[in-house]
Amino acid sequence: MPCLLDVHADETESLARMVGDINRGLTGRPPTLPPKYFYDQTGSKLFERITQLPEYYLTRAEETILRDVAHDVMAKLRPRDIVELGPGSCRKVRWLLDAFEDAEDVRYLAVDVGRDSLVQAMTALDDRYPWLHVHAVVGDFERHLARLPLPVGRRLALFLGSTIGNFDSLPRQALLAQIRRLLGADGRLLLGVDLVKDHGELNAAYNDAAGITAEFNRNILRIVNRAVDADFVPEKWRHHAFYNAAASRIEMHLLADEPQRVILRKLGVKLDFDRGEGIWTENSYKFTRESTEAMLAEAGLALEEWYTDAGCRFGLVLARPAESA
Ligand code: SAH
Ligand code: TRP
Repeated sequence: MPCLLDVHADETESLARMVGDINRGLTGRPPTLPPKYFYDQTGSKLFERITQLPEYYLTRAEETILRDVAHDVMAKLRPRDIVELGPGSCRKVRWLLDAFEDAEDVRYLAVDVGRDSLVQAMTALDDRYPWLHVHAVVGDFERHLARLPLPVGRRLALFLGSTIGNFDSLPRQALLAQIRRLLGADGRLLLGVDLVKDHGELNAAYNDAAGITAEFNRNILRIVNRAVDADFVPEKWRHHAFYNAAASRIEMHLLADEPQRVILRKLGVKLDFDRGEGIWTENSYKFTRESTEAMLAEAGLALEEWYTDAGCRFGLVLARPAESA
């Protein structure tokens, strides 16, 4: 099947936007960087390694659930149109595709900012499932969902890996409301959420002994160096991730190991950091069944099924548009 490719994030425009985001983030108090920029080629590869770490239980737990429920979900829904947001390697969707009983004329649309990784992942999928109509969309799912083609039949949207947890409350609600619009009347959303649990286990997942998460975090400084001609020295920054129980989130920061001045040449900006001062790079919110239902309800979605792994580490929710919405 020929693989379709739409590019909504044109390179010049994306770079201009990224430069603006970096400027706003780093000159703000506290300095921040938007997490969607983690995923250049190196970042995507590092993320794949994170998913295989012994401490990072999320991917394994979610795949256990997918393995256990895929047949039921696919038999019940029989979707003809699957849309995935931020699929990364496109490996998780295989659990669902393998569970199809009457696989014919199914479209798989995948939206991701990482162009090269997306094309690579989609090509592999195309080889493995000759009956699948594969359609890659290079774009920002916070900005480009309205441009996706209409459903060709019942639509199943996938938002896995607890990527929803990387958004703060307001943008999270905005994104879920947009996803709801994608579904049409009889569509469903399969959403992966990481669950509140023992703090030691949460902290370990983002502080692996091999230091891959630290490397992933520091890699964003190299990405910033390229985008705005800056002179961050990644080795002078320490990965700091911890569970903030009051806010139900892991926070990821980079802390300056020594006082330093960083110049963003393209922006004509100088930044001074004291030892221990930081850049806040990401949050990863953790949920309960109740907080998941509340977040869905705010976006006009209703929980239809709630699945967890045997250890209750991860949750997978099947949601539908709420009747009154
Ligand atoms: N779903 C996969 C990958 C999760 S990593 C899994 O569960 O393992 C998050 C993915 O979302 C990455 O592939 C990243 O490139 C993509 N992503 C993050 N922010 C994005 C945005 N705003 N628009 C589109 N893709 C985004
Ligand atoms: N959304 C996942 C999580 O919050 C994956 C992820 C995003 C991640 N950024 C990360 C994992 C940084 C480790 C480090 O866990």
